[in-house]
Amino acid sequence: MSLPPGFLDELRARVSVTQVVGRKVTWDHKKSNQNKGDMWAPCPFHQEKTASFHVDDQKGFYYCFGCHAKGDAISFVKETENVNFIEAVEILAKEAGLQMPEQDPLAKEKSNYRDELFKVMELSVRFYQRSLNSAQGLKAREYIDSRKLSSSIVNEFELGFASNNRTDLFDYLRGKEIPEQHIIDTGMCLRSDEGGAVYDRFRDRIMYPIRDSKGRYIAFGGRAMSQNARAKYLNSPETKLFDKGRSLYNFGSARSALSNQSSLIVAEGYMDVIALSQANFKASVAPLGTAITKEQLGLIWRISPNPVVALDGDRAGINAAYRLIDVALPLIETGKTITFAILPEGYDPDDLIKERGRDAMQLLVEEAITLADLIWKRETEGLSFNSPDSRAALDKKLNQTLSNVRDSQLKYHYQQYFKELKWQTFVKKSGKKLSDFNNKSSAGKNVKDSFIANSEKKNFISLKENVILAILIKYPSLIDLNKEKLITMHWSSDDHSLLLEEVMEMGHLNTEDITQSLESKFGDKISGKIFNQKHVTIIPCLGGKNDVNQAGLILSDEINKLQIQRGLDVELAEVVNSSNEELDETAFWRLGQATQIKMKANKSENDGAMNFEIAPNGAKLNKDEKSQFDALLEEISTDTFNKSKNREN
Ligand code: UTP
Ligand code: MN
Repeated sequence: MSLPPGFLDELRARVSVTQVVGRKVTWDHKKSNQNKGDMWAPCPFHQEKTASFHVDDQKGFYYCFGCHAKGDAISFVKETENVNFIEAVEILAKEAGLQMPEQDPLAKEKSNYRDELFKVMELSVRFYQRSLNSAQGLKAREYIDSRKLSSSIVNEFELGFASNNRTDLFDYLRGKEIPEQHIIDTGMCLRSDEGGAVYDRFRDRIMYPIRDSKGRYIAFGGRAMSQNARAKYLNSPETKLFDKGRSLYNFGSARSALSNQSSLIVAEGYMDVIALSQANFKASVAPLGTAITKEQLGLIWRISPNPVVALDGDRAGINAAYRLIDVALPLIETGKTITFAILPEGYDPDDLIKERGRDAMQLLVEEAITLADLIWKRETEGLSFNSPDSRAALDKKLNQTLSNVRDSQLKYHYQQYFKELKWQTFVKKSGKKLSDFNNKSSAGKNVKDSFIANSEKKNFISLKENVILAILIKYPSLIDLNKEKLITMHWSSDDHSLLLEEVMEMGHLNTEDITQSLESKFGDKISGKIFNQKHVTIIPCLGGKNDVNQAGLILSDEINKLQIQRGLDVELAEVVNSSNEELDETAFWRLGQATQIKMKANKSENDGAMNFEIAPNGAKLNKDEKSQFDALLEEISTDTFNKSKNREN
């Protein structure tokens, strides 16, 4: 639905954000100034005792200084009531006595027709419920009992029964004077070929009503009573009300239950959702007879940022999860992921709860494995990585998989995580060999000491970091522009990353305020430490003159160099920590490549554009770097030589 221009402004002007928020928080009256509409409370979006949640009634905004949640009355309702944007607008408009805009006549007619169909669906639900409780439904009731479903859960899910007669439902609905075409359009009945008689779609089945997110009945799943039925489950066809791939079983109830359950559970079947709910995992949903679609993931994320997908532990279940990875990867973002609870082979949540109890399910949910770990499992399962070829193949596969992640920040962290896992798999596993080797020969150890913990290099890095901080402080407008890159950087020390974190939050302040704030947190010597270094002062845009363009260029250049340095460090560490056998030509070649890339980056394209005024100093730095890495290469090659000599002895 599209809203006319001005409608939202009108709505925002009419509602008081303080009033809307006030229903969910307890104001800190000491800190608040009611007259000014300046209100403080403990934040409703994260756990805290102090009041860091600020509401500015005049501006119509809230902001949490703790978790950085922010927004207006509409987003507040959206977040706290788990509804979508339009639903939030509807809620607030109703409260404010503001009429929702009229739809155009065509849309109105369409929506009237849909209302007619909803009516048919509702009548069908009630009809099947009555039929379950009648004499005809005896067998179905016995079956339901045998599945250990309580009568209250049967009522809650409004289970019903479709008898074996051909036209029970049709006759009933016709008796209510529902036009034939309406009945057919709901998919509840169908006309036999060649314009013959109309008959009920569902016969001799236990009926599970399916509702949309507003609780309206849109479809049914029907479970066959007879073993000989064509299909165990028959579902409603797609209709004007029912879009299979965009609906989830139990979505509405799951949404309201989420305040009492940390993550939504996504199960495979109707019975699982019902059994889970009976065991008080009420925030559970299932797709409707198909694999989970991207639209369903979207729905799921609307109500839960980290749902747990419960899978059968057999091959089919695992494969379904592997396929889900590919659906999910292009969509994941920070705060939008999926995790996986892998059930014992041959169990679905229903079986598990019945046989091993609620706690067994709870444990699986708590131990759900992350998407990253599942990707790693998929790409490494059953393989060994003793050869460079197999490692290269793994790199290639991981890169391919990650190329589907669109959120660049997230992608970076997945890459880092896989680097760590590779490290653990390739390097740590051979740790025994490594220490044996180190004991025998001091050569390997020397390399490690001189490069991994190399203090000279540390200084070199922290100098670059100082330049970055200095630029950000002097040119705060660059902070937000470079936020994404900055967030994903690794800093050489905690001090540096703490400083950066602070600075990142101050993009809206001026240099003086930033400096003052840093000094109050880190001591009054801090700006001296950052600005007075020769390294920093020789850069014209920092030393004297103001030149935001140059500053921007230098900034992105320094960030690039540091990123590449990090990559090289990881490669280096891999080589240095490799066991005797692993330190082969491939590793050496990789190291050479990495070093060359780094050299290139240091002689970056931007150098010309930056146009240092004190050229000799700049040049000197580059030369230093160059000789440092030349020395590194040389030492590694000497070490390789020594190692291979040791082997021969
Ligand atoms: P299951 O066979 O696991 O069903 O199929 P279930 O929900 O555990 O039910 P019980 O325990 O056997 O009674 C999982 C889901 O796959 C769809 C249904 O949505 C079902 O809930 N399905 C299954 C079909 O659509 N058609 C079928 O023939 C079978
Ligand atoms: Mn089952």
